[in-house]
Amino acid sequence: MKGIILAGGSGTRLAPSTHSINKHLLAVYDKPMIYYPLSVLMLGGIREIMIISTPEDQPRFRGLLGDGSSLGINLKYKEQAEPNGIPEALTLSQDFIGSDDVTLILGDNIFYGQGFTTILRNALNKHSNATVFGYRVKDPRRFGVVEFDENQKVKSIEEKPKNPKSDFAVTGLYIYDNKAASLAKNLKPSDRGELEITDLNREYLKRGELDVELLGRGFAWMDAGTHEALFEAAEFVKITQQRQGFKLACLEEIAYYLGYISQHELYRKGKSMEKNDYGQYLLEIAKRKYTKQYWDHTDQNPMLGMVK
Ligand code: DAU
Repeated sequence: MKGIILAGGSGTRLAPSTHSINKHLLAVYDKPMIYYPLSVLMLGGIREIMIISTPEDQPRFRGLLGDGSSLGINLKYKEQAEPNGIPEALTLSQDFIGSDDVTLILGDNIFYGQGFTTILRNALNKHSNATVFGYRVKDPRRFGVVEFDENQKVKSIEEKPKNPKSDFAVTGLYIYDNKAASLAKNLKPSDRGELEITDLNREYLKRGELDVELLGRGFAWMDAGTHEALFEAAEFVKITQQRQGFKLACLEEIAYYLGYISQHELYRKGKSMEKNDYGQYLLEIAKRKYTKQYWDHTDQNPMLGMVK
């Protein structure tokens, strides 16, 4: 399984903050936005990941995350010259995907909730042709929207409908089989001039190959694409972290739990940032001893089934 994070686009909805910095490098409270989708792929056990961004921004992502070796993963980078649409992430990555399946996540999507890793790994292990995740929202008109029939089977899927047929938005996390890039190649731009990921999902639906997993009310799903949404996401992260004392999307912590980096490497990383709360947190984890009860109570138990 390969992973792709789409982190390009023009970030117009976050201007002027995005005039000189890519949206996905802006902080969501205490870490760059891209940490959140990257943490999702890592928790899914995916270690081969392509980050797609604009030609100007690519060096900045490299500067932040390098080749991924400090996290025990393998990161590659690709340019998207123009924001031609989400499915282009798949065609641009065709060589990288090779003969594997692929999980695509949008760079501004944040997922959090008890059991999320299990749901994700189950979906990855299921090897269905295409899996997307549905989440109930107050204003579905902003999203891809999925409609179900009386037997809970997917009936339709529409992009930003004026009159949504349900309250279930399709989140920006997509698991596809190997034909996704070829299918994406045949898509035509929509009226707004973009290739639409909803059209690709509709193609899978037509073939009877689209699964939708619903994320329940105990989950938080956010896209941080507007000033309001970014502020709310930061507030959510701050409050959750302060209350529980756990950090969300702490990549080094995840890499350590998964056995990708050693205690010593975690400690060294913490030391390099010890003047702030993030570094202090890493140091604390590196010093802590984990008990069996701890593993049983965390969603990041490395014993959970890994995907190949
Ligand atoms: O967040 C979930 C929603 O994401 C889905 O429900 C919709 O079906 C899907 O179309 C998408 O809608 P958005 O309006 O949020 O898409 P947006 O254009 O904001 O792009 C999402 C992210 O992908 C954003 O971080 C920028 C990046 N992007 C987007 C496009 C179109 C690129 O890097 N390149 C692109 O060409």
